Amino acid sequence: MTDLAQWLAAETDTEGLAGVITAMAAAGAEIAAVLRAAPIAGQTGLAGATNVQGEAQKALDVISNDIVLNHLRANPATSILVSEELDEAVHLAPEGSLMVATDPLDGSSNLDVNVTVGTIFSVLAASGGMLQKGRAQLAAGYIAYGPATSLVVRLTGRTSVFCLDDKGHWVQVVAAAAVPASSGEFAINTARERFWDEATRRYVAENVAGETGPAGKRYNMRWVGSMVADIHRILMRGGIFLYPLDSETLANGGRLRLLYEANPMAWLIEGAGGLSTTGHENILDVEPTHIHQRIPVILGSADEVHRVERWYRQG
Ligand code: AHG
Ligand code: MN
Ligand code: MN
Ligand code: MN
Repeated sequence: MTDLAQWLAAETDTEGLAGVITAMAAAGAEIAAVLRAAPIAGQTGLAGATNVQGEAQKALDVISNDIVLNHLRANPATSILVSEELDEAVHLAPEGSLMVATDPLDGSSNLDVNVTVGTIFSVLAASGGMLQKGRAQLAAGYIAYGPATSLVVRLTGRTSVFCLDDKGHWVQVVAAAAVPASSGEFAINTARERFWDEATRRYVAENVAGETGPAGKRYNMRWVGSMVADIHRILMRGGIFLYPLDSETLANGGRLRLLYEANPMAWLIEGAGGLSTTGHENILDVEPTHIHQRIPVILGSADEVHRVERWYRQG
């Protein structure tokens, strides 16, 4: 079995890049241990503070952020950290050449009900500044804290999947993930239907119409409310994830964040043959305007993403 160190050695000879990914994987292993003990330690509640997103921070949001920060502080290659949980970017190793953008704990509304959550990260060259298109990523990944603790990571080749074994080693379980082009599963928060635009409404209606409708097949719906959980399902068996722009999120530009949710997930899905779109353009081509920018996110099986884009083109 290939382990993370062997895979990284084959994927890159840039020591710094391998080092940052190893540091994020180590942070993930530490967060996994904290999450397993959290209900007993009474840590699944609120931290009593509000983050720059306007969200009530969970204690584990803050703890996870601190764990990521500690592991990256110990890594000489990281000069800048952007985090969902920090108002401003943090400057780390002055001699470092890499920037990391992270969602230290994604899906934190699920923490007190023991549902899969995750840590998402994106790695870029610090020389390009903090506002670079997702296309410029050097690597991206997430750790999913589920029945197994999985690390999904891509440099510039194929997206690969590792699992944490009982000795703390990351063992490769999927060498090259492949998102099937077509699928019978879609993921959207259907409670927001009254806010949807016409394209989203028409796409979902085709799916719900099933075998006798224009899609000509039966669809299933899944919405975990934890992006890492929904995307991992799509990466492993296909499907499409939609958090489109709607009348309520319009003022903010969307719900999910570009630098540390949309871009890394789009990078990983594309590295497995899937596609991403805002509805109008590939997420990876969006020019960021600020570090906590929000963006519509539609990504997954290529045929499904193409069908959504066709509805958007019809306006
Ligand atoms: P986070 O916990 O990092 O703030 O992210 C939560 C996000 C994402 O994980 C999930 O897909 C989405 O929020 C769910 O939004 P709704 O609760 O509106 O469905
Ligand atoms: Mn949050
Ligand atoms: Mn998130
Ligand atoms: Mn988060």
